[in-house]
Amino acid sequence: MTKRLDACSTTIVALAIASAMAGCGSDRAPAGPSSPPISTPSDSLKSAGAGQGKLVGTAVQSGLLSQPQYNTVASREFNYLTAEYQMKWNVIEPNRGSRDFSAGDAIAGYAASQGMRIKGHTLLWHGATPSWVDALSADEFRSVVDQHIRAVMSHYRGRIHAWDVVNEAIADNGPLLRDTVFRQKLGDRYIADAFRVAREADPSALLFYNDYGGEGTNAKADRIYTLVQDLIASGVPIDGVGLQMHISASGRPSDAAIAANMRRLAGLGLIVHISEMDIRISDAGGTDQSRLEAQRAAYHDVVRVCVLEPRCEAITFWGFTDAHTWLTGDRPLLFDTAYQPKPAYLGVLDALRGR
Ligand code: G3I
Repeated sequence: MTKRLDACSTTIVALAIASAMAGCGSDRAPAGPSSPPISTPSDSLKSAGAGQGKLVGTAVQSGLLSQPQYNTVASREFNYLTAEYQMKWNVIEPNRGSRDFSAGDAIAGYAASQGMRIKGHTLLWHGATPSWVDALSADEFRSVVDQHIRAVMSHYRGRIHAWDVVNEAIADNGPLLRDTVFRQKLGDRYIADAFRVAREADPSALLFYNDYGGEGTNAKADRIYTLVQDLIASGVPIDGVGLQMHISASGRPSDAAIAANMRRLAGLGLIVHISEMDIRISDAGGTDQSRLEAQRAAYHDVVRVCVLEPRCEAITFWGFTDAHTWLTGDRPLLFDTAYQPKPAYLGVLDALRGR
């Protein structure tokens, strides 16, 4: 049940965030006048996560890493970076045969300098395929897909913790697979082929299937489960599944459904990641305070599901400040546009602290 926040309790939450970031060891607001947030927390999301054996990550954009506030929060709070779009095919090879890795390299270099791990995102996705592939024959397309996977994975070989090899291949409704250019030209076997090539290209990287809308126990989750179960049965090298977790505070899979889905994927021997988490509040009713509280509670409860699932290795947020989110017009992330922690930040920190 979501408790409505009044002005007083908002202050308490703000002070609690300050005390949490100060590592005061308690979520209760300190007694007496509110003190300004201490800017160097003795605890952080990544340190709390490490205490649970979890990676805590964020999607980033290379052009933002030089911004002081962006850099400060990213380096303080996270140990697992995903390129939000700059390691995708259409960015690397907008024109056939000429590859530009500079933006992805900037992110990889930043991660290395900060001792962070990297999630490679993503090798094959219909949402980021360069337009020049559309004119290719099936045989030419098969060849360039193979070349793309090998070229990108070779470039980053040894530096990537896990790759999203295939992203969003499952149909939202109806048949198993989405009717993408990959399926149209290469047939259903393109997924298995991609994972086999990926394992050859960089045996050191974990290989993931990544998707949205199948986080709980629903028809799409069942299709994702069927896909990866069939891949494993066919001897295809796959190590994990990314559950994107783009959800709403006013409607989301239940904790029990997410836990059950994670558990059955783990039962296949797979690692699970929450790979792109953000929580919309613009579609939630009530006051601003009640929306922020509902967001806090949802972040807390979903992250706690991962904390309690041994095979849930990582939680990645799809950005960390509302100043830079793909969900324009919403406030789905942990920090506001001024890079101040929101109640959602406290909810995640509490969950990572096992509370
Ligand atoms: O930053 C440049 C800007 O300098 C330039 O002026 C502008 C116009 O060209 O482009 C800007 O880059 C855009 C970038 O988002 C940052 O806003 C890219 O064109 C645009 O393609 C990119 O979209 C990304 C999208 O995937 C497509 O790659 C989004 O950031 C990213 O959040 C979104 O992420 C996807 C996941 O990969 C898969 N799951 C769903 C998720 C949301 O759609």
